[in-house]
Amino acid sequence: MVRKRVGVLVSGRGSNLQALLDACADSAFPAEIALVIANVADAPALARAERAGVATRTIPHRDFPSREDFDAALDRALREAGIDIVCLAGFMRILTPGFVEGWRGRMINVHPALLPAFKGLDTHARALAEGVKLHGCTVHLVVPDLDAGPILAQAAVPVLDGDDADALAARVLIQEHRLYPLALKLLAEGRVRIGNGRTHIDAPAPDGVLANPQP
Ligand code: GRF
Repeated sequence: MVRKRVGVLVSGRGSNLQALLDACADSAFPAEIALVIANVADAPALARAERAGVATRTIPHRDFPSREDFDAALDRALREAGIDIVCLAGFMRILTPGFVEGWRGRMINVHPALLPAFKGLDTHARALAEGVKLHGCTVHLVVPDLDAGPILAQAAVPVLDGDDADALAARVLIQEHRLYPLALKLLAEGRVRIGNGRTHIDAPAPDGVLANPQP
């Protein structure tokens, strides 16, 4: 099995990166993390990658005159590393349409809400303010519009009486860590087809053979 080479873009804590690193530590997992890129030098996520023996780069967005220039540097770094799939894991920069188009069908993000509800930031506080009874997380393919791409996988958690945003976030995060590696596995196995803005997941091929080429 040829494992897909994954590049992970991070800005902060990196707990989702850790979930991906842990999944990829199993040699039977169909993807490996080949590069972690942070846009801030002191992102704790970088130390997680280093501990796992994964190559890291820091590309500070402030060093570039425009979003296009920053994204071009990201793109170069990913392509130089032979990356097949990009995972956004708490990456706090909006990506330009040109960059996103270049990775169409091969770039995924984990969002802490059940999309299309609660796009953007502060999802847990907003969910509480609306009084929803179910909340959760979504892994979706990245398109130029924020948090709008075809949904790959979702997990729901109950909203409990007495929850504050931190308690709810913690319950959702447990599901993010479970869901993100599962979604990456589907994509890396070539089982994700996209049509009409929706994903369709092919059944696994028999005998553990990889199903389809890259979508
Ligand atoms: C996660 O809640 C993720 O859904 C959101 O940003 C947070 C990143 O957390 N996009 P971490 O850096 O993975 O711990």
